[in-house]
Amino acid sequence: EDPEKLAEFQARIDAGDKIEPKDWMPLGYRKTLIRQIGQHAHSEIVGQLPEGNWITRAPTLERKAILLAKVQDEAGHGLYLYCAAETLGVTRDELTEMLLDGRMKYSSIFNYPTLTWADMGAVGWLVDGAAIMNQVPLQRTSFGPYSRAMIRICKEESFHQRQGYDIMMKMANGTPAQKKMAQDALNRFWYPSLMMFGPSDKESVHSEQSMAWKIKMNTNDELRQKFVDQTVPQAEYLDLTVPDENLKWNEDTGHYEFSQPDWSEFFDVLKGNGPCNRERLAARNKAWDDGKWVRDGLLAHAEKKAARKVA
Ligand code: ACO
Repeated sequence: EDPEKLAEFQARIDAGDKIEPKDWMPLGYRKTLIRQIGQHAHSEIVGQLPEGNWITRAPTLERKAILLAKVQDEAGHGLYLYCAAETLGVTRDELTEMLLDGRMKYSSIFNYPTLTWADMGAVGWLVDGAAIMNQVPLQRTSFGPYSRAMIRICKEESFHQRQGYDIMMKMANGTPAQKKMAQDALNRFWYPSLMMFGPSDKESVHSEQSMAWKIKMNTNDELRQKFVDQTVPQAEYLDLTVPDENLKWNEDTGHYEFSQPDWSEFFDVLKGNGPCNRERLAARNKAWDDGKWVRDGLLAHAEKKAARKVA
């Protein structure tokens, strides 16, 4: 690539310009964005499954309506993000096929099961909490369509996080059995939530280049630390215990010290060996296959209409 163009591009990034779809951009910038936005979109879509699992079993009509709305929001986020990725020259069908045959990833967190109603609280509180921590800075990312998508998505994610915390408050202040369920959900979701931020900075392949291009605004470890600092007091308010014996406030640094998740488990989940990887991909493949007649019908209709216009 032309070094002059590269330098000009970097100068635009450094000056805080937004890059728009028709602007010149390095191949690597385009490729990284397709990977990250595509992976993000897939996460929203696959992320409907663990919560969709509880819609029919929500304890009250109100909880059911809220959960239904939340899962629909996730579908909307996925579609928004696929549109942003399409501006980079990849089609939604191509992205979907890459998800379905395992060439593209989605967030590790959605390969964990949701076993009880308290998990709906933990997912909203911790998983959406971690998602917001990562996505708020992405509102300032350098690629225009991605940053604009993030603005709306973040508004909805904050509502998701609040509804999760509200479930946790009810459970944690409920009967001893309910409080136990809340604690159990926190125990199971704590470390997988820490993994959402990606491997440690030392092991992160893309961070350095992505930060230089402002595709990422913070490193994985920075955001993980921010998440812990924000979440521990929330757990204390619930009178629940974060499952980490090494968790300790450090007066000098102004941050919590905490244990790292089991990174071998993380890399194993990425390889497809998490508790629900097979189930999640099977569900998405089934939805795609079952929807074929709709896609075929719509296409046939569009072709017929186009032919009529020509005639
Ligand atoms: N789950 C699955 N894969 C992950 C995860 C994770 N939690 N974290 C990192 N990885 C993958 C990366 O995709 C990369 O693999 P690849 O090269 O095959 O794509 C590899 O691990 C190495 O990691 P990094 O070099 O640190 O990757 P990257 O710079 O892309 O950082 C991060 C990862 C922080 C997730 C980044 O992609 C990002 O900010 N994405 C946008 C937010 C997002 O996708 N959120 C999804 C979950 S939130 C939700 O949907 C509700």
